[in-house]
Amino acid sequence: MKAPSTIPTHVSIIMDGNGRWAKERGKERVFGHFEGVESVRAVMECCVEWKIPYASFYAFSEENWGRPEAEVDALMGLMAKAMVGEFDNFQKHNVRFMVLGNRARLSAGLNATIDKIMAGTASNTGFTMILFLSYSGKWDILQAAEKMAHDLMNHPEKSFDAEDFSHYLVTDGIPDPDLLIRTSGEKRLSNYLLWQSAYTEFVFTDTLWPDFRKEQFYEAIEEFSSRDRRFGKVK
Ligand code: IPE
Ligand code: IPE
Ligand code: MG
Repeated sequence: MKAPSTIPTHVSIIMDGNGRWAKERGKERVFGHFEGVESVRAVMECCVEWKIPYASFYAFSEENWGRPEAEVDALMGLMAKAMVGEFDNFQKHNVRFMVLGNRARLSAGLNATIDKIMAGTASNTGFTMILFLSYSGKWDILQAAEKMAHDLMNHPEKSFDAEDFSHYLVTDGIPDPDLLIRTSGEKRLSNYLLWQSAYTEFVFTDTLWPDFRKEQFYEAIEEFSSRDRRFGKVK
């Protein structure tokens, strides 16, 4: 497929609408989650092809722990299976895979799988794929503040600016997203990258996540290409 006119450094996606997609077909919600994995794969292929350096996916929020146990278990199982299943593909396409979020809430088994895949792909340089798992923006800011407070206690003479603070976030070393796409018609952040999205461009689409494939991804990036990013300055 033809590359979009501008290639963002970091594209992030709030993958939403799996449940509704399944419901429309008279199926269980998890069926939508299954199909959603195919959309992740499609986006991943575009990133490799178009040389997008960073792509991140909001896969499970801290709030999502409040869903029925059966759905949470199915999602976690699906995530583990998808990661393991994609490992060869990651190597083939030189993809560095990362999971960011409150890892302490994940099961020991899932954490072991994540560690294995992250370690196995850590030196890949093609593109970085990040899965935000058990993540929330407020959690991230709080854990960063806690670490910064600790350093401040040990070095009371120091002063910290926004740039210093960002190094305590779990996204340290990863550029802030240029483009954030949310599917399924919802127009909110749902506690995603609150700090990191200060100057992000937002594209909202009514397409449900399992229907979001290469063409929709291309269109979202084309919309981003037409935006005038001023960062508070005058042209
Ligand atoms: C997104 O789809 C996946 C997760 C949040 C894990 P949803 O499961 O939120 O689907 P809808 O929004 O209920 O349709
Ligand atoms: C946001 O979707 C979280 C993820 C996509 C992982 P939700 O479906 O949980 O968000 P709300 O509840 O509609 O805000
Ligand atoms: Mg939803």
